[in-house]
Amino acid sequence: MQIKQELDALFQEALTEMGIDEPVSSVVEAGKPEFGDYQFNGAMALAKKLGKNPRQIAQEIVDHLPETPMLSETSIAGPGFVNLRLDGNWLAAELQKSGGDERLGVGRVEDPIRVVVDYSSPNMAKEMHVGHLRSTIIGDSLANLLSFLGNDVIRQNHIGDWGTQFGMLIAYLEELGEGAEGNLKDLEEFYKAAKRRFDEDEAFANKSREYVVKLQGGDVRCLELWEDFIDKSLGHCEEVYSKLHVGLTREHVKAESSYNEELAQIVEDLKEKGLLQESRGARVVFIEGDENPLIIQKSDGGYLYATTDLAAIRFRVHTLGAKRIAYVVDARQAGHFQQVFAVARKAGYAPEDVKLEHVSFGMMLDKSGRPFKTRDGGTVKLIQLLDEAVERAKGAITQRDAYSEEEIEKIAEIVGIGAVKYSDLSINRESNYIFDWDRMLSLEGNTSLYQQYAYARIRSILRKYGKEIEGTLRLEDELQRRMGLKLLQLEDVLRSAARDAMPHYITSYLYDLATIFMKFYETHPILRDDVPEELRQSRLLLAKQTADTLRMALEILGIQVLERL
Ligand code: ARG
Repeated sequence: MQIKQELDALFQEALTEMGIDEPVSSVVEAGKPEFGDYQFNGAMALAKKLGKNPRQIAQEIVDHLPETPMLSETSIAGPGFVNLRLDGNWLAAELQKSGGDERLGVGRVEDPIRVVVDYSSPNMAKEMHVGHLRSTIIGDSLANLLSFLGNDVIRQNHIGDWGTQFGMLIAYLEELGEGAEGNLKDLEEFYKAAKRRFDEDEAFANKSREYVVKLQGGDVRCLELWEDFIDKSLGHCEEVYSKLHVGLTREHVKAESSYNEELAQIVEDLKEKGLLQESRGARVVFIEGDENPLIIQKSDGGYLYATTDLAAIRFRVHTLGAKRIAYVVDARQAGHFQQVFAVARKAGYAPEDVKLEHVSFGMMLDKSGRPFKTRDGGTVKLIQLLDEAVERAKGAITQRDAYSEEEIEKIAEIVGIGAVKYSDLSINRESNYIFDWDRMLSLEGNTSLYQQYAYARIRSILRKYGKEIEGTLRLEDELQRRMGLKLLQLEDVLRSAARDAMPHYITSYLYDLATIFMKFYETHPILRDDVPEELRQSRLLLAKQTADTLRMALEILGIQVLERL
């Protein structure tokens, strides 16, 4: 059920009735309870256009609204807003319908498209860092969401597996021989050690350079070493994916190197289209309004990150058939994407009907607001971070005696990983994100644990009741009416989160829902003997739908729930 769309349609009918031919998309959620649930705010613009008084137009529109069970109240306010209040009986009936549906009444988009979500995309030369963690978490939730809404989603892990540093890395890999296995456990250290050799030993440095050339030339031995290295490095990433419960597999990897063969063609093609220019020996494309051109090929013939991205866009649009490509990459690459998108448009790799979007996110900071690093300034190991989350989550389990060691391990994993994901998703992704263990594992506030508790509490009520719920759902009072409205807003929330690629719309929604539920739970007994059966059934239905909604939305975000906590 898309409430806003239904309301827009009512206003559209009213306007048509009045002989006004004007598309309506002016119903918004009301900012304050005294403004009702929704507001129609199109009267002012209309009045201006027709040279009439806005309050008068608003009144005329209200008079022309078709009969509907949806609204219980319409009133004109301020300069010409129409305040709308949804009818409790209508809400109850709609809820009863959606509650019986496995998707809770959430429809699929009318015009499903193929969407590419480019996320995680770490560099293979080094360990995955916190920026890739954010990309992985945000990207995965977005991919889940778009696919839940019926789109055909293709996940692309655009790993960085090519470039001059690999010459040095494989030369070092070869030098270590059998001993390399142990050293490869820590890629950061491996990289540093290789770099040290490179800086200190002229012969090693020459060999590294030679290996870059050999690699590019397709030398079998070098390619073998390189493949071995990438395999190990990707293995590290997969450990992280598996701990995170993120469904990225090798099938989603489309590495930078896979575009190598196409890079010369890209240059040729841009030249043919008259877009390529020489600038200080390099081949570049100039973009209107930007004094710096996009470099396509360096003076030494080497290609760049951007060249590969152009090839990737071409592949995604022409071969994969994408109509929307979402790049979940940190905000520092905004300039890169702006330029790449502009050139892709000019070159016709992405026609206007393909949406190219940089789903950018801010930095991850520590509690004191500094970039997230280890005490000695090194990169934080993601595996250790996730292990720590699970360890700390054990401390947040209140009734530890009630569970076996094994159960505690399982619960802690769901709670801990859920907390890491939820806290990342729950802020506007554009802002910097403060990583704070205490806050993310708190039972109070907008946290996953709060939702997981609300869910487990409801499940426990339903278990105690132990029978099928069979009654009619009724919204007895204003609190329940608001709860019903929240529940029914699910589809609107999911759709707008998908449209704007903003997972925090969903977490805010869940927080509101769980908060209303907790109030309801404190003030409305359900199983107590003195509750009339009819009310019990209705309250059970309301509670169950809340639990189902929490579970479904959290699962879309990649967060699991627990039947007991
Ligand atoms: N490997 C890059 C990095 O770690 C991110 C790649 C993002 N995707 C892309 N198509 N450029 O910064």
